[in-house]
Amino acid sequence: MAQQKILLGVTGGIAAYKTPELVRRLRDRGAAVQVVMTRSAARFVTETVLQAVSGHPVRTNLWDEQAEAAMGHIELARWADHVLIAPATAEFMARLAAGSAPDLLTTLCLATRAPLSIAPAMNHVMWDHAAVQANRECLQSRGVRILGPAEGDQACGETGLGRMVEPDAIAAALLADATLAGATVGSQPLQGRTVMVTAGPTREAIDPVRFVSNRSSGKMGYALAQAAAEAGARVVLVSGPVQRPVPQGLERIMIESAEELFAATHAHIDDVDIFIAAAAVSDYRPRRVESQKIKKTRAEMTLDFVKSPDILASVAKLASGPFTVGFAAETHKVREHALTKLAAKQLDMIIANEVGAGIGFEQDENAAHVYWRDGDQAFPLAHKSTLARALIELIAQRYNVGFGEDTAVELTALASRD
Ligand code: C5P
Repeated sequence: MAQQKILLGVTGGIAAYKTPELVRRLRDRGAAVQVVMTRSAARFVTETVLQAVSGHPVRTNLWDEQAEAAMGHIELARWADHVLIAPATAEFMARLAAGSAPDLLTTLCLATRAPLSIAPAMNHVMWDHAAVQANRECLQSRGVRILGPAEGDQACGETGLGRMVEPDAIAAALLADATLAGATVGSQPLQGRTVMVTAGPTREAIDPVRFVSNRSSGKMGYALAQAAAEAGARVVLVSGPVQRPVPQGLERIMIESAEELFAATHAHIDDVDIFIAAAAVSDYRPRRVESQKIKKTRAEMTLDFVKSPDILASVAKLASGPFTVGFAAETHKVREHALTKLAAKQLDMIIANEVGAGIGFEQDENAAHVYWRDGDQAFPLAHKSTLARALIELIAQRYNVGFGEDTAVELTALASRD
């Protein structure tokens, strides 16, 4: 695998004294590391130490002409495969959430397309503060991966949730040594895979100002896309019209209608290993789209509808196509309908959930029951991001059993390494 390039941002908390160790652990796992410090970080750890352990000059200032001449900040933002902020203070999280960029590190966070992870570290009362939690939620909804904090003794003499996750665990979470990472913060079972997720509703035009659509918020699809990225996959998110920020590190293609969704999916399907259809596609569309706004001159009006293309079924039919995962959102007889759909569309897996008044669409929480040819698993009600991570873990497992022969070989090689 190519060497991972990690831009480590160090902000001003006491846990910054652990960052030389963190650089060592990242480099032990084969990564190249460049460090950027904020001014207050320099009160806890020196530039000299971080330069020595990273093997690169440490950047602290946006206005350092010499450093800019060697590698400009935009170049540095492009260089990174991953941006890691450790420790991340409450102050830094607030600036990141607000999108403000008064210094080099915050500017880099805005200027990069690389996935961003932060390891918060602060007093446990600060961590619990509503403002900090609101910032955490905002960052998480944008796809920032939050590592920790961990529980335990704090430098202030108190005990609680606020310690920075240990350097080795952070390094394991970021870098793909599945055997080590799984035992700590999170594993990357989809490293090297491409996952496509369809999400949100479609809109089917009636005339230039009206359309037919549905209540899908896109929350589940976006959460799955984010969880797949966290699991190490390259993710292509094909999204219907929803007001959601694009999760960091993802490629997003916006579409409106079922036909556009069909075209975008098939235009990018070639490299896809796993296809997850979470979009609520309008099953029918008006036969004709009026070129001018329809006038309300008649007492009654009838629209003639034709069937939209079934994107999921069309992907499942592809010769040597990807591992396919569909959704069955049902109001009744969920299991029966899900199993029928699994067979009819020739899917590898189906995620069934009940929808109706107050459940499923537009909610933050969801429960699901997943079926595949020779098994099933129930997932209790949980926040959609938690459910999505559990679903991605199961999808990765099933994919690796049936599809990922080369992954099995890699894992065997890892197991027999020592
Ligand atoms: O047949 P039904 O609409 O219930 O199937 C739901 C599943 O099929 C979902 O995964 C949905 O994203 C996908 N689907 C699709 N294209 C359609 C209709 C549904 O991809 N036209």
